[in-house]
Amino acid sequence: MHEDKYVEIFNLVKAYPNPYGDDIKVVDGFELNIKKGEIIGLLGHSGCGKSTVLTMLAGLNEISDGGIIVDSREISGPGPDRSVVFQSPCLLPWLTAYGNVMLGVERVFKHATKAQRKVIVEYSLSVVGLADSMHKYSRELSGGMQQRVGIARAIALKPKVLLLDEPFGRLDSLTRMDLQDVILGILDREKITTMLVTHDVDESIYMCDRICMMTNGPHAKVGKLIDVDFQRPRVRSEMIEHPKYYDYREQILSFLDECELEKEKIAKQKAKVA
Ligand SMILES: Nc1ncnc2c1ncn2[C@@H]1O[C@H](COP(=O)(O)OP(=O)(O)OP(=O)(O)O)[C@@H](O)[C@H]1O
Ligand SMILES: [Mg+2]
Repeated sequence: MHEDKYVEIFNLVKAYPNPYGDDIKVVDGFELNIKKGEIIGLLGHSGCGKSTVLTMLAGLNEISDGGIIVDSREISGPGPDRSVVFQSPCLLPWLTAYGNVMLGVERVFKHATKAQRKVIVEYSLSVVGLADSMHKYSRELSGGMQQRVGIARAIALKPKVLLLDEPFGRLDSLTRMDLQDVILGILDREKITTMLVTHDVDESIYMCDRICMMTNGPHAKVGKLIDVDFQRPRVRSEMIEHPKYYDYREQILSFLDECELEKEKIAKQKAKVA
């Protein structure tokens, strides 16, 4: 396995049926290699196909064509080597934070002793800052705390790849910044290869090593890749004073603008034909 191709996404296609029974290739020819330990951002307009790519990588969404290789093995469904965190953690209300994390740990670490599993669960909950609340039920936890449980649940499985689909999307900006740092702290220690889907340009620059910009769908693919060349750990206040930060921002925003103009052009052409 080449370290630069820890995750290899080749000629990925997703066709969804439309109401008229035709297939529409929402994603078409998406190609990306992700390095081991890299944090890659996936950015693009709403509806372009970011979650579609992420859920195919998670094995939760059937691949129509092409494929995905993770650590030299082609994926063919979900597996404990890939954990996902969505916008809402969907915790089981009859279990505590501890119980929710333990559920996955019991399934994945079948041969571990009870004591070993307990250590994994307690450790995962403590790194997300829930050491004192692990025996609370979800109704006793705030939205931010529930999302912390979702993150603990994902990292407790010791995945090779962590998939984050707008994990902070429903949180207020302070909690959002807290949780961005929680995740960065974990990734700094554990070096988990990560894909982060986000709408937030600043979040992508702060968190990612590389940002993958998707073109608008249908037939969405990789439009542009940006290397974010800031050392880690990053300090927000220093980063936003750096000229490179404005350069990255400008590159991202102008790419998004171009996609929008392209969409308008296509819509006008379609209107003319009709
Ligand atoms: N199960 C499905 N069946 C049919 N079409 C779908 C299905 N899931 C998604 N789509 C369509 O595929 C396209 C891409 O959707 P997707 O959810 O991947 O976009 P996204 O980039 O994650 O958007 P957002 O930023 O709003 O979350 C959209 O046009 C959507 O309507
Ligand atoms: Mg989405």
